[in-house]
Amino acid sequence: MSIGDFHRGRRLRRTSALRGMVRETELRPADLIQGYFVVESGDRNFEKPIPSMPGQSQFSVDRLVARVGAAMDKGLTAAILFGLPEKKDPAGTGAYADDGIVQRAVMRLKETYPDLVVVTDVCLCEYTSHGHCGLLDGHGEVQNDPTLDLLAKTAVSQARAGADIIAPSDMMDGRVAAIRGALDGAGFSHIPIMSYAVKYASAFYGPFREAADSAPAFGDRKGYQMDPANVREGLREAAADFAEGADILMVKPAMPYLDVIRLLRDTFDTPIAAYQVSGEYAMLMAAINNGWLDRQRSILEALTGIKRAGADMIITYFAEEVLDWL
Ligand code: PBG
Repeated sequence: MSIGDFHRGRRLRRTSALRGMVRETELRPADLIQGYFVVESGDRNFEKPIPSMPGQSQFSVDRLVARVGAAMDKGLTAAILFGLPEKKDPAGTGAYADDGIVQRAVMRLKETYPDLVVVTDVCLCEYTSHGHCGLLDGHGEVQNDPTLDLLAKTAVSQARAGADIIAPSDMMDGRVAAIRGALDGAGFSHIPIMSYAVKYASAFYGPFREAADSAPAFGDRKGYQMDPANVREGLREAAADFAEGADILMVKPAMPYLDVIRLLRDTFDTPIAAYQVSGEYAMLMAAINNGWLDRQRSILEALTGIKRAGADMIITYFAEEVLDWL
């Protein structure tokens, strides 16, 4: 091979404008969904920082409305809500109460910001006294089919409050069909379902369980969430949710599962969502706050990688911050 015969990839990297011209992946504000924790509190101005998620807090409804407004001024278009109820019980009744914490937050957000896309997480774990995602039998095992009814009730109550997208995260079998049927029956056939289709039993949910006070009181979630070692099984989960009528398929967590995001993107023609979870946020923030990683570059690189892998939209606790840079 003589000089000049080899591939000269550097030609298109020479200037910033050239690099911009050949850039294949771009984050847009509309791709980002910010996660928020809303808490039932007598104090209208309640805000409590979450130690393992620097920069994130639990908010009262009023504080949440103010915070979301500031983020929308910077270009935020979508938010997903997680609720901390005042009381918990074995059946997680707070999840499907019409005046539940998430329902009240949705009503206030939608009346203040009609254009905001409000996504609601459908699960019982934040509302059950035992912290599991469904009803337990006498042996402490989560019962699949009796739980479906409660999930469907939760979805309908959230839609009634004004939610724009319903996002079931419980990992019960058949929940998308149950929720779709209940929504349609209640007059919400126009409301889409974003299913946490491929959700792994991940160590990276640790900070969330502190933030949402939703750690299981005993055992773990391995009986319903997926084994991190499996990808073909993820394809079966996604196919089931697709067949049951999911409008958007999600992979969660994101960074350790980029191959799964790519596989879903190449297999299904629905939009694909990825959830960069609390532990991914905590990991980056710990390094950033130690001065070990450059804040802006590392956050943008992580999110660009998730998008490059095939995600059309990303749930991330970095959304508010990233908007300043786009
Ligand atoms: C509810 C739910 C969880 C998360 C989102 N919805 C917790 C869990 O499954 O244990 C985790 C999100 C995060 O870690 O940021 N089931």
